[in-house]
Formats: sequence, C-alpha cells, structure tokens
Amino acid sequence: MSIDRCQILDLPKIQDPRGNLTFIEGGIHVPFDIQRVYYLYDVPGGSERGGHAHKQLHQFIVAMSGSFDVVLDDGKDKKRVHLNRSYNGLYVCPMIWRELDNFSSGAVCMVLASTKYEEDDYYRDYAEFMLARWSK
Ligand code: TYD
Repeated sequence: MSIDRCQILDLPKIQDPRGNLTFIEGGIHVPFDIQRVYYLYDVPGGSERGGHAHKQLHQFIVAMSGSFDVVLDDGKDKKRVHLNRSYNGLYVCPMIWRELDNFSSGAVCMVLASTKYEEDDYYRDYAEFMLARWSK
C-alpha cells in the first residue's frame, strides 16, 4: 500500500442559485461501500487527531466546513494534503499512518468508512505499524 493510492477525488456538485448540492454514493464516487460515517468538530486550535493506521479500513475524508491538513505516511514516503472544499475529499487506503492537524476554527471533518468501528483494526503504535508494513 502506497500513498500514491491516496488521492483527492472530486465529487458531483449541483450548482443552484439556492445553494450547491454534493452527494456521495458508495462504490461509485468512493471506491468502497460505506458502512459508517463520523465527524470531528469543535476541534481546538493546535490540536492533532489521527496518529494511527488501519489494517483493512478504507476511508474518505471531507472538509465539510473550514480546513485542515492530513499527513499520510506509508512507512516509506510522506505527503501533506490540505483539504478545504466540500466538493472533494481524500481517499485513504488501508495500511497508511495518518495525522490530521492545522484545523481552522469551525472546521468540520467528515469521514466515510468501509466498516463499522473495530478497535482491532487499528495500529496505534508507529513501531508496530512499521513492523507490519515491512513484513508484508
Ligand atoms: P480515534 O479513531 O482514535 O480518533 P481520531 O483518529 O480522530 O483522533 O477515536 C477516538 C475515540 O472514539 C476512541 O475511543 C474510539 C472512539 N470511536 C468510536 O467509538 N467509534 C468510531 O467510529 C470512531 C472513529 C471512534
């Protein structure tokens, strides 16, 4: 799994004088079925979230409001992605260490996930993640 697979995906945007509309269908606009949605909000300035990797989980991260950065690390390369639009998002494949920081005030980070919450799917220790990454 490489950070090259983690890309910004554009979403449909229906423009209307009454306001714009964007929609996301699992398997069509994101490359997995959507089993769970969660969101981060009221994030204090200077906070960092994430700091883990997932074994099997696919995710799609959208800045519904405001902005923040996602730092991706596949154990070899790193990249920082700035998200600040609600008509696109970042696809994150399994086995990628991610950190979220640089939250603007009022930022809302929505995450679509391919499975229900399972703590066993997490690597929360970077050394353990690296060991698993390089033994595959
Ligand atoms: P965590 O995934 O560590 O948050 P983040 O990566 O955004 O910093 O989750 C924080 C806590 O919330 C942790 O105790 C697990 C719990 N949690 C759930 O119960 N269900 C969920 O869907 C998520 C994402 C987290």
